[in-house]
Amino acid sequence: MRMYDIIKKKRDGYRLTDEEIRAFVTGYTAGEIPDYQASALCMAIWYSGMTAEETTALTLAIRDSGETLCLPDLGGLRVDKHSTGGVGDKTSLVVAPIVASLGVKVAKMSGRGLGHTGGTVDKLESFTGLRTDFSPEEFVEMVRKTGLAIVGQSADLAPADKKLYALRDVTATVDSLPLIASSIMGKKLAADDDCIVLDVKCGSGSFMKTYEQSLELATLMVQIGRNAGKRMCALLTDMDSPLGNTVGNSLEVIEAIDTLRGQGPGDLTELSVALAAEMLTLAEKGTREECEVRARQAIRDGTALASLARMVEAQGGNPAWVYDTSLFPRAACCREITAPRGGYIRKTDAEQYGLAALALGAGRNTMQDTIDHTAGLVLHAKTGDRVEAGQPLATLYASDETRFETATSLILAATHIADTAPAPRPLILGRVE
Ligand code: URA
Repeated sequence: MRMYDIIKKKRDGYRLTDEEIRAFVTGYTAGEIPDYQASALCMAIWYSGMTAEETTALTLAIRDSGETLCLPDLGGLRVDKHSTGGVGDKTSLVVAPIVASLGVKVAKMSGRGLGHTGGTVDKLESFTGLRTDFSPEEFVEMVRKTGLAIVGQSADLAPADKKLYALRDVTATVDSLPLIASSIMGKKLAADDDCIVLDVKCGSGSFMKTYEQSLELATLMVQIGRNAGKRMCALLTDMDSPLGNTVGNSLEVIEAIDTLRGQGPGDLTELSVALAAEMLTLAEKGTREECEVRARQAIRDGTALASLARMVEAQGGNPAWVYDTSLFPRAACCREITAPRGGYIRKTDAEQYGLAALALGAGRNTMQDTIDHTAGLVLHAKTGDRVEAGQPLATLYASDETRFETATSLILAATHIADTAPAPRPLILGRVE
């Protein structure tokens, strides 16, 4: 089977067989298929799409490309949560400690930033010394001891996704429904969780721009998970504006900590509570309403924050930073952007805000790039807010001043100010189970 023929078949819009899909995944993982041919196939998939059967075959081939975890009984059901990727989306850092503090084991494998979106592993590494690379045995031990661990994808688990994820990030092939569904579900099926809650983002800052695309993605992933015996649920949530008020790694960690202290922004708090309630419900901790009450209580009484501190310590970070966020290193330079006119903010285009954070150094442009954990931006006004001319819109943070120019133009172009207020858009747009 020649890789050339597989690429050509998909380029011309034909259906690939299970064997062809598996041959690609196995060959690419083994290093027998070069990056340039894998990129070409990803681009052909981006253009031609895949049927649900092809996507399922790709998911299973990714799952089987390495080891699958087999976790010992840790007492009760294990739950995971995965976002399809957004701007300012730090919910995992809030949700996982809430759920763990309520007695449900959270063994979470997270990703790095992708395209204009951030990744939980990059964010967590803002804690100097915190590790995310653990062996399966160490991972299990941390979950057993602290009830919670958030680690990077181990080299042995779904290695095909690890390679494809990095390749797609730099070849403009991230925003493809079959590639996203197989990437997420391939690694979720390789991990040994019982229940999975998906946060499927929808809007300009998401890889799926329309409600219909997000619904299709959510339905497909829930079905793939169900067929593999997992308890599944997906929330479709807004990503037209950045979530919360910060974009950039350590800035987002600090905002997540504020949220666990009960002092976070409303949208982040509401979404985190909703996702935590879904996870707790799948883990049989009560009805959704009961679980929501318990999640809010875990924030109020400080148990969720304590759970994060325990996790940070177990993974090698300094738990004191959870209680005193002034200990996080700060960016060397900052600049304020002000409103060019007065009026209502009709749009804070999340994708452009994500690209601005990338320009400030918070993300990667090539597979080799290192990120600046202190870089990013803080929004002072969001969609629906009224601003006066000259009022601060955002503060930018970077390690050198030269990075501000591009980020400033992106943000000014992405912030639409008009005389009338926009229609409110709900945060949770739908649910699939
Ligand atoms: N998250 C993933 O894990 N994979 C994707 O392709 C997109 C978001």
